[in-house]
Amino acid sequence: MSRRTEIADILKAPKINEKITVMGWVRAFRSNRFIALNDGSTIKNLQAVVDFENFDEALLKKVSFHSCVKISGTLVESQGAGQDVEVNCEEIEVIGEANPDEYVLQPKRQTMEFLREQAHFRLRTNTLSAVFRVRHAISFAIHKYYNDNGYYYMHTPIITGSDAEGAGEMFHVSTLDAENLPKTEDGKVDYSQDFFGKETNLTVSGQLQAEIGALALGKVYTFGPTFRAENSNTSRHLAEFWMIEPEVAFNDIHDNMDLAEDFVKYLINYILKNYPDDLAILDKRIQNIEKNMKTELRRPMGLIDTLRFVVDNDFERITYTDAINLLRSSKPFKKGRFEFEPTWGSDLQAEHERWLVEKKFQKPVIVRDYPKNFKAFYMRLNDDGETVAAMDVLFPGIGEVIGGSQREERHDVLKARMQEMGVEEEELWWYLELRKFGGCPHAGFGLGFERMVQFITGMDNIRDVIPFPRTPGKAEF
Ligand code: 4AD
Ligand code: MG
Repeated sequence: MSRRTEIADILKAPKINEKITVMGWVRAFRSNRFIALNDGSTIKNLQAVVDFENFDEALLKKVSFHSCVKISGTLVESQGAGQDVEVNCEEIEVIGEANPDEYVLQPKRQTMEFLREQAHFRLRTNTLSAVFRVRHAISFAIHKYYNDNGYYYMHTPIITGSDAEGAGEMFHVSTLDAENLPKTEDGKVDYSQDFFGKETNLTVSGQLQAEIGALALGKVYTFGPTFRAENSNTSRHLAEFWMIEPEVAFNDIHDNMDLAEDFVKYLINYILKNYPDDLAILDKRIQNIEKNMKTELRRPMGLIDTLRFVVDNDFERITYTDAINLLRSSKPFKKGRFEFEPTWGSDLQAEHERWLVEKKFQKPVIVRDYPKNFKAFYMRLNDDGETVAAMDVLFPGIGEVIGGSQREERHDVLKARMQEMGVEEEELWWYLELRKFGGCPHAGFGLGFERMVQFITGMDNIRDVIPFPRTPGKAEF
């Protein structure tokens, strides 16, 4: 292909009267005269002005919505409002047609549900292209944050034998013939004949291996895909999602909370600073949707204002016990409006988290020191013997974005907890040995990447912030 200039570069430093060649996809062709061309390098389109008398009618007919074209011409100051510069077309070549009689996308507002079925085309829309530029930028900012702060990026395995969270929601990995499974004498599947000689699954978290890294390199983080076979059809759950897990030697639960708050504020600031155009489009989209909604259903603030508010204010920090007390003295509880009763000893439900974040404090909240009975085996037991040094970071509109804890570093306490919770020592012998030989206090957490992207882009459904969502019953593309 011949050389092209990217639209982002043209708009950054326009050179008037320069001859340029651009290639991209047609977002609109108005009045047989104005082509809005987008090449993905920026949310902004380049306007190309066509003098139809200079072109074959049959050619111009092919310049349709989302067709791919190459345009050569002269860059000039724009005559119209809405853009500073435009290109006067001298040559147009249709590289890839998109016959409007057959092409499934139409130049009108399409529902997110419809676009999900067209995942091979949806990145060409304004909204989704903005989301995926921002998603990229958040990934980059994550690596930058940890690199700049002296952490090492650690690749933890995708295939593992252990269930880090102990929730049993794992996808099996096996090469055994499902139609003809080898059996042991007592009738169970004989995994010793499987590829790895044992039962394996896709990882639910890289944490346990990240702890190995922290106890040698001091500060590490993982950033990889994780898999959960939970049958949750919600706007916050995916079966395949990405997680960032920092793990730090010598940190306690308070250091862990400080890190979590500093980290997510950094990510939000990075996008506010570097991606204002994409954020503006996403903000406007929400305003358009909410225009016709009742006031009480609208978000309390616009997208950009919400992001600013989060970075400018301290997160609220409370204990689980405080949270339960607050919930039990709340209006919705007294009026019987909660579906689940907030009682000490049971996990906070989404409705409880939302009340704390959106009604009571109206900002992000970090809840810590949860009862040990519904938290993972590795969390450090507090002196009360009842709670563990766990923390969840709760965000408005999303709920839990981060889950983490100080880890149990005492060999005897960990061993007892594993027994209590039925975690097999045989599988995690190395995890126990980390406590026996050169162990130390340490802490970490997991940030759900897609939930963070959801918060920053303001998208309602997690399926619209990952290019190819995996959810129960859906693995197309
Ligand atoms: O709270 P979780 O289960 O914590 C862990 O896995 C720990 N091992 C992390 C650690 O301490 N290193 O998951 C962490 C985060 C959640 O707060 C949530 O944001 C996200 O991962 N998450 C999901 N995101 C999308 N879909 C799902 N099914 C998710 N499950 C958890
Ligand atoms: Mg959690």
